[in-house]
Amino acid sequence: MPTHLGRPEHRATIKVVTSHSLHILVTGTTRGIGAAVLDELKRHGARVIGHGTKGDGADQLAADLLKPLAAETLWQRALDRLGGRIDVLVNNAGIYEPVSIGESAGVWGERWQRTLQVNLQAAADLCRLAVGHFRSRAGGGRIVNVASRAAYRGDSPEHWHYAASKAGLIGVTKSIARGFAAEGIFAFAVTPGFTMTGMAEDYLSSRGGDKLLAEIPLGRVASPEEVANVVAYLALSAPPSMTGAVLDINGASYVR
Ligand SMILES: NC(=O)c1ccc[n+]([C@@H]2O[C@H](COP(=O)([O-])OP(=O)(O)OC[C@H]3O[C@@H](n4cnc5c(N)ncnc54)[C@H](OP(=O)(O)O)[C@@H]3O)[C@@H](O)[C@H]2O)c1
Repeated sequence: MPTHLGRPEHRATIKVVTSHSLHILVTGTTRGIGAAVLDELKRHGARVIGHGTKGDGADQLAADLLKPLAAETLWQRALDRLGGRIDVLVNNAGIYEPVSIGESAGVWGERWQRTLQVNLQAAADLCRLAVGHFRSRAGGGRIVNVASRAAYRGDSPEHWHYAASKAGLIGVTKSIARGFAAEGIFAFAVTPGFTMTGMAEDYLSSRGGDKLLAEIPLGRVASPEEVANVVAYLALSAPPSMTGAVLDINGASYVR
């Protein structure tokens, strides 16, 4: 068992970080933040299985998380690929789809369902499976959930559901941290602000990029590599006493 992950009696050895033997599942690694997280974790020597909606590969599994049982299948397949052991789960896959209050009730409800399913329900399903696995092997483990600044600050008038999904994910993270810390199971979340991926580019261009940038004291949006750096820290070496922490990455655009 990796020394820095484990049970309470092993916590004094936190400074010894040996990520070489870690087995990690990261969702949503085909592009953007997830791709950067995958690279960063591999750079540290971890054995990582990535994921996207389509296309299995040597180190990637396909699963459309809009489908109710997809998380269960993804977890089992990842476990098989990783020889029956997963040490860290990173829930990164997410969607950012607008819906306005002027839409019909049917469209409104359908868009809420999609966003909550991918950003919250599927992530929670994977957390459930991860916690169950960590407990069954009695070796502890870590979860890093990629939430958003929107969870605390709120989002645009077309993105209530997105903000709600990310706030929900933080509630899940903190509940796991509080419920299972004594078993060596640690949970963290990151809350990026605008991050220059395809998703952010669309948003910035649709809302007048310069005005939005002016609201970020740092003067620029975050890079996927910056977010990946923080995720890797939480996944690999953050001290157990940090469990339940939510780390902001937003250029001081929202200081809480
Ligand atoms: N970029 C930002 O400004 C920003 C800010 C705050 C938080 N975040 C959060 O950071 C995470 C990554 O964002 P990003 O900007 O890197 O996103 P992105 O570039 O749009 O990539 C999203 C990833 O999620 C996967 N995904 C989307 N729908 C899925 C589904 N139904 N089933 C399974 N996988 C699905 C995509 O897979 P496919 O390629 O197969 O579709 C892709 O790998 C998200 O949780 C997002 O909410 C982003």
